[in-house]
Amino acid sequence: MKIYKCNISDVTQNELDTWFHTMSEERRNEVTRIVNEKKRTSKIVSDYLCRKAVSEFCGVAPNEIIFLKNDFGKPYAKNLPVHFSISHSADIVVCAVSEKEIGIDTEKIRSFNPKAAEKFAAEKELEYIRSGKNGFFEIWTLKEAYFKCIGTGLGANIKSIAFEIDDKTICCSDNKFLCSFVDIASGYICSVCERQ
Ligand SMILES: CC(C)(COP(=O)(O)OP(=O)(O)OC[C@H]1O[C@@H](n2cnc3c(N)ncnc32)[C@H](O)[C@@H]1OP(=O)(O)O)[C@@H](O)C(=O)NCCC(=O)NCCS
Repeated sequence: MKIYKCNISDVTQNELDTWFHTMSEERRNEVTRIVNEKKRTSKIVSDYLCRKAVSEFCGVAPNEIIFLKNDFGKPYAKNLPVHFSISHSADIVVCAVSEKEIGIDTEKIRSFNPKAAEKFAAEKELEYIRSGKNGFFEIWTLKEAYFKCIGTGLGANIKSIAFEIDDKTICCSDNKFLCSFVDIASGYICSVCERQ
């Protein structure tokens, strides 16, 4: 597994223009419709990072890669033996690439409504969230990474999976998956989940 990251505030206009023109026509049209500049930039960087990751992993030229999506929106590279996942939060874009199914999620640490945790966390997870400083974002990103790994995204069954975190050892209730935290930048929590 390899993780790629980019801080969008470090990207030059020249790079953005180049990366924009490497995207598919469909993605260019999608991006052009985004009004918020930061979100637009983040989408272009996302496409670039995925191309770079898949290109280096498979040894193919970035502009030869065709991205497709499954029925739930999970992206994959056509006819290439590789899995990848992408996440954006604030200024950071991260991409995880692997020969196994993989999911990644990052969140900038910010203030949150503790009540919101009840929507996605099971009772034991709530205890962990109440006891630790960043538990809210740790559990949140682990769940997002898991559902991105299996490719369904977040659905109604968000509480069907549970995590136990003990001194940074992470135990996923579905033991076919190995999950961990990745240190990507100060002020962010990032989780990655890989099928074993
Ligand atoms: C869409 C979703 C997969 C991730 O959304 P998110 O965390 O808001 O956004 P992220 O930036 O982390 O991830 C976006 C990327 O996920 C990818 N993605 C979309 N659907 C996906 C799926 N079914 N499986 C895996 N990846 C998916 C996309 O490639 C997208 O990147 P791109 O737009 O640059 O191509 C999904 O989990 C979702 O609906 N989230 C809603 C947020 C929520 O309710 N969170 C509750 C806390 S647990």
